[in-house]
Amino acid sequence: AGFTTLDMSQYKENELVTEKWRGKPIFVLKQTAEMVKKAEENPKDMERLIKIGNDYFLVCLGLCTHLGCIPGYNPDEQSFLCACHGGMYDFTGDVTKAPPPRGLDIPPFKVDGNKLVLG
Ligand code: FES
Repeated sequence: AGFTTLDMSQYKENELVTEKWRGKPIFVLKQTAEMVKKAEENPKDMERLIKIGNDYFLVCLGLCTHLGCIPGYNPDEQSFLCACHGGMYDFTGDVTKAPPPRGLDIPPFKVDGNKLVLG
């Protein structure tokens, strides 16, 4: 109980999908080649991404680390905005504008072929 298995072959680049794990929203964002290139410039951003096959994903809790609102994703800006107090995150979920104290939290996971097991 408490595990969620995601088939990672179902996601499209730069399209945010919200899954559920233990009653909480989980964001899945498949990265474009361009996003990966940008993330590679900053090792800390790269650490936030999960590699499955040749693809990279952001998989994180869809809850703002400030006070827990659900941020929205803007695919044109490739960033998240939390409407509650204006906090922002980039496409790796790293915080780019306060008040959130840190990036979006990454749940415990295991990679199993092209599946991701949360929990
Ligand atoms: Fe997101 Fe405050 S809850 S900025």
